[in-house]
This record gives sequence, C-alpha cells and structure tokens, in this order.
Amino acid sequence: MKKGLILFWIFLIGVHTSAQTIKSPSKKLALHFSLSVAGEPTYSLTAGTRDVIRTSRLGIELKDQPALLKDFTVIGTDTSCFDETWKPVWGEVKEIRNHYRELAVTLQQKDAGVRGLTLRFRLFDDGLGFRYEFEKSGNLNFFTVSDERTEFNLTGDHKTFWIPGDYDSQEYFYQTTPLSQVNAFVGKQFDEIGVKTIPADNVVQTPLLMKTSEGLYLAFHEAALIDYPAMHLDVNRQVYSLRSHLVPDAVGNKAYLQAPARTPWRTVIVSEKAADILASKVILNLNEPSKIADTSWIRPMKYVGIWWEMHVGKSSWNYADTDNTRLAGTDWAGLKPNGRHGANTENTRRFIDFAAANGFGGVLVEGWNIGWEDWYGHWKEEVFDFVTPYPDFDLEALKKYAAKKGVELIMHHETSSSATNYERRMDEAFRFMKAHGYDAVKTGYVGRIIPRGEHHDGQWMVNHYLRVAEKAAGYRIMVNSHEAVRPTGLHRTYPNWLASESGRGNEYSAWSRGNPPEHETLLPFTRLLGGPMDYTPGIFQIKMDKYQPGSPNQVHTTLAKQLALYVTLACPIQMAADLVENYQRFPDAFQFIRDVAVDWDDTRIVEAEPGDYITIARKARGREEWFIGAITDENSRESVVPLEWLAPEKTYVAAVYADGEHAHWKDNPADYRISRFLVNQGTVLHLSLACGGGAAVSLKPASGKDLKTIESYPGQN
Ligand code: NOJ
Ligand code: CA
Repeated sequence: MKKGLILFWIFLIGVHTSAQTIKSPSKKLALHFSLSVAGEPTYSLTAGTRDVIRTSRLGIELKDQPALLKDFTVIGTDTSCFDETWKPVWGEVKEIRNHYRELAVTLQQKDAGVRGLTLRFRLFDDGLGFRYEFEKSGNLNFFTVSDERTEFNLTGDHKTFWIPGDYDSQEYFYQTTPLSQVNAFVGKQFDEIGVKTIPADNVVQTPLLMKTSEGLYLAFHEAALIDYPAMHLDVNRQVYSLRSHLVPDAVGNKAYLQAPARTPWRTVIVSEKAADILASKVILNLNEPSKIADTSWIRPMKYVGIWWEMHVGKSSWNYADTDNTRLAGTDWAGLKPNGRHGANTENTRRFIDFAAANGFGGVLVEGWNIGWEDWYGHWKEEVFDFVTPYPDFDLEALKKYAAKKGVELIMHHETSSSATNYERRMDEAFRFMKAHGYDAVKTGYVGRIIPRGEHHDGQWMVNHYLRVAEKAAGYRIMVNSHEAVRPTGLHRTYPNWLASESGRGNEYSAWSRGNPPEHETLLPFTRLLGGPMDYTPGIFQIKMDKYQPGSPNQVHTTLAKQLALYVTLACPIQMAADLVENYQRFPDAFQFIRDVAVDWDDTRIVEAEPGDYITIARKARGREEWFIGAITDENSRESVVPLEWLAPEKTYVAAVYADGEHAHWKDNPADYRISRFLVNQGTVLHLSLACGGGAAVSLKPASGKDLKTIESYPGQN
C-alpha cells in the first residue's frame, strides 16, 4: 500500500480510543474495534502480520433522525467463544463445525437521548461476520434506514471478479479487472437481460471475490438477509475501498425497521488458498438453525422436465398464439391451440416414464397453467392464477400416473414478478398443489416487480421470498426460486428452500451469447457462496443450430464438462436439463447423470483457482460412493487427483468420463471417452481436460466380478 494512502486514512479517520481486539480460534485472524476521535465506530481485520481490511467506519443513516455515525461512547463490551457441530438437513458435508470468537460492543450516542446500538462481530478462522443491532430505546422505535455506511478499506488495487451492481438481476457473467478498473456500465451490453437497474458505474454485487498481489483471497457477501434490502457495494476506485450500497424501495428509502432489530451479517471470507474459500462455512454458520422441526419430507432430488424444449424453441409455454387474453373472462377452453404447446398430457407422461426409468425423483412441467399468452412485458398485475391448467393438461390423470411410477411432479409458479398477485393467491395455490400431489414448486420472477417501483432485491421483495419459503414449509412444499434475490445461507434456517437461480444459468446458452468457458469456474467462488444454484447442467446437444438453423448459440463447454458440473456445482435439486432424445443418443455418458448423487457426506476441494479450474471430490450421503468433477476454462489442462480420501484397503471401480483426444468446446464438444479402472487410496488419477472441457468420475466399491474383469489404473501398485 502506498504511504500516501496510509496517511490519507489516518488523517481521515483520526486516532482511536476504546480499542478492543479479538483473535479467531486458532489466532489466524484478528479483529480490532475502536472509536475514532469523532466517536465513529471503526474496525480492521488482520491475518497474522498482514492487513486485510484497514481501519473502516461503520454507521447507519436514518430518515428524519440524527444519523448513527459518530459521537458514540462505548458503554459495554462482551467477548465470548462458541464451538458447536451441527448436521445440515442436506448439503456438501454431513457435519459442520461452527467455531468463532465473538465481540459485542454496545454504544451510546452522546446528546441523542439513550439511543443504543450494538455491533456484534464473529471471528472464525476463515472469516468475519458482523452486524448492527438496534435496541429499543429513547427515540429509536419505528425508524427508517436511509443509508448504511459500512466500509471495507482495502490494502491495494486487488484483482477483482465482479458483476455489475443491479437492483433487479444477477444474470451477468463475471468481469475480472483490478478494483480500480470496475465499470458497472459494461452491464448495459447485456441486452438479453429483461429487467436491469444498474444505478452507477462503480457499483458491484456480492458475493464479490478478490485476490491480492500477495495471493490472499477475499470474498465479500452477507448472511441471513431478512427484513432488509440486499447489500451491493460502491467501489472507490481511487483509494481501493468498498462501501455498502443498499437497494432502495419505490420511494428511495432502504429499510423500515422496528427496534429491537438487526441487519444481516456483513461477511468477509479470507484465505491463503482458493480451495478454502469454497470450503468455508462462515455464511451458513451465521444463519439460524432450522426452523422446521420435522424435516423428513425434504428430499434432495434430480429432475427432468418440460423446459429446455421451450428455451431452444421446439415447443411453447403458451397454448394459443392469441394475445390480449385476460385472466378473468377469457374462454381458455375455446382458445385455438397453436399445436406447439409443450406441457400437454402426453409429453408429460413421456417425461414421467423417462424419470422413472432412470431413477430421477422429479419432473418439472412449465407452461401447464393458463396465462402464458400475454405474460411478460406489459407490467400486468393479473397474469397467472396458479390453479387453472390448460385444456390439454390432465392434472388428475397425471397425478395418478406419476404416483404409479413413483415420480414427483414439480409445479411451476411463474409470477411474472407480480408479487402482489402471488401473495393473494399463494395459499390457494399451495393447497391446490397438495391436493394434486405436488411437493415442490419452482417459482419465477421474470419482469418488473409489482408493487410497481419495487426492485427484486429490495426489502419488500426480500420479505416476499421469505414469506413464500415459510408458507411453503407450512404446507411441506420444497422451493426452487428463480430470479429471486441471491441466497445468503438461509437454507440452514429454511431447508425446504432447496435452491435458487439468481445468477446466469445454463439457459442463456439456448438463446443468447451464453456463458464463457470460465463461467462455471467462477460461480462456486461467487454466487454459490450464499447457497446452491439451479444451474440446469447436463446439456448434451451443445450447438443450438440443431434447433435454430444458422444460430451461433451454444453451450461453451464440452459434453464431458457438462457431466463434471453435477459435482462442481453442488445442488440438492439438480436438473438433467436436456431433451430425452439427446440423452438417448449418448446413453453411456448419460450413465454418469443417472449415478451421481445430489446430497453429500463429505467434500474435498482438490484444487481450485477462480476463473481457471476447479476439481472437487464428494462422497454420496449414506453410500460408499465418491464422485469427482474437474473443470477448466478456455485452456486445456491436466488435473491430478490423488484418491487419498478413499477408504483404506478397499478397491473401487472408477468410471472416468473424459474429454476425447480431439475435444474442444467449440470445434468438437461431443468428443468424449469412457474408461473403467480398479483404483484404491494410493491411486493418483491424471485427467486431461480439453479447452473448455472437464472430466467426471464415479467411484464405487468393486465387486468380485469387477476384480477379475477390470484392469488396474495404469502405473498403480
Ligand atoms: C426464467 C427462468 O430462469 C426459466 O427457468 C423459466 O423457464 C422462465 N423464466 C419462464 O418462467
Ligand atoms: Ca432466469
């Protein structure tokens, strides 16, 4: 850091009093709190002798009341230690250790009555969480937050992996620049995104990843986003600093609170190794334990569905091509069918058969309900009623058929972002689901939000998504939300909220320039830090000109990399997204999707570098089976995987699904080869990944017959 810059911060913030320091359990990190001479609360974070976050101010601005920024005195401090191991209902590991030291500083503002503010810091070995807590005191009762002034003053112009700050969408691919080069207006070139609100050129979203010139990785996000807007970050490109930027509501306020109240946790994960960022449980640990007592009905699953065929243009969501329909008064049965409607009874049966034949838990059906003739773009409040099927979708017959085949139907509730309409109809819709045998819903928020003027990531909608998850839990319904605010670990508290999209999914490959080959090497370091993503992997027909003659659109990976994503992008509700006929063309590669687990006992991050590569091995929950996914960006590479975590003295069959010799994401994406070997704890696998490629491996205990018929891995003793 430049000397001038250090002097700048000292000058700006002043000399400190009332200092407090806590160290993380193994003393890797230290958190320092102090008040500036002006009585401003400040904190800094160090890792050994290195500064991570330089002295940074904390504070909140209120509407029509003096700000909670300065003139504070410390009236109490409390330190404590917490160490507990808990079991997630589903997830990447069987057990999670929650181990931190806590510092709570209670502040009072001079000359402002007895307004109290507590700053609570939790310091883990791999990161920090802190939040503001407002006591009910003096004139702090109902209050409106007009701004939050949390700073993160950095030590240099770090390499930054970012997407534009946007109040309505996270569906961008990542930009990698020094922090000083952030320009959020590149987001304007993403013209395929329906609703975008980029407030300024220096705003970025969390999770935000950085790498310092000394090789330290930092990831900024928030945990337990409840009753508050999402936090984006303003970048000061001159002095390398970040400041909280809350998503405003329709009249420009940020949050309406009533004391006692608290903000979400502001989080910083810190690590020398990129792999440890992926293994961090800081965000989950900062969320409350499950509020759902009996979780036996929550079932992770793989699913297929009537979905990709609409995205590639083979069929339609809408039943008729007439627009200007109205929810009330339209004779839906009398509409002239367009002959391309995907969600018909016959097609749904075909998917149920396919799911049953391949051991998948669910079938998603989009376009089953009336309203798709004019659902998007007109900012209409009444679009869907969530209870009326199109005339060619026989709910009762399909309920029986799915039950007979042991398959679950997943209902789709596209709200077209009319959250008011959904709130009015939600109870009826959930009762309807249960009556027709549906235990899982995919929600969607395409378009501009109603209440008009609200944003996808503002306080009103944050509360809405949580109401949906809570209400769904009351009906024992699992939720997969699309276009909702990005997750912040709330799936610990509401484990029925299995996944969200809230990022740029594979669907973009069908109808836009798609996602660059490095995209999936960045998602786990950014979007996935808050929770699983319904990315919809498993596309085998890579090039879209098959459906759209002359189209340059394609998935920017090899076929083998699509398999690897089932492991690298862990998600408890994981789609096999391609068309049945494409899986039937490649039955040997499809075998990996049939086999792979969606819920895990253990996870080993073998190697990882954001934007370059990720290799992860995971053990299936309750089974002695391991799965490995290795992916690379646009460059080819060799991934070396020592199988040291296999059970000792056991022999396994490794099925290796690798890129073929001539594979390349653009020139030859479907070139793959599958080989089988006997392996054990001493084996070191060498996987060759093509440009934009990947490899997937399944490991199962060898049978007596396997031991006789399958060869050992080359070079293994
Ligand atoms: C966008 C979602 O991401 C996608 O999965 C869905 O098919 C469409 N909206 C229609 O609801
Ligand atoms: Ca989407």
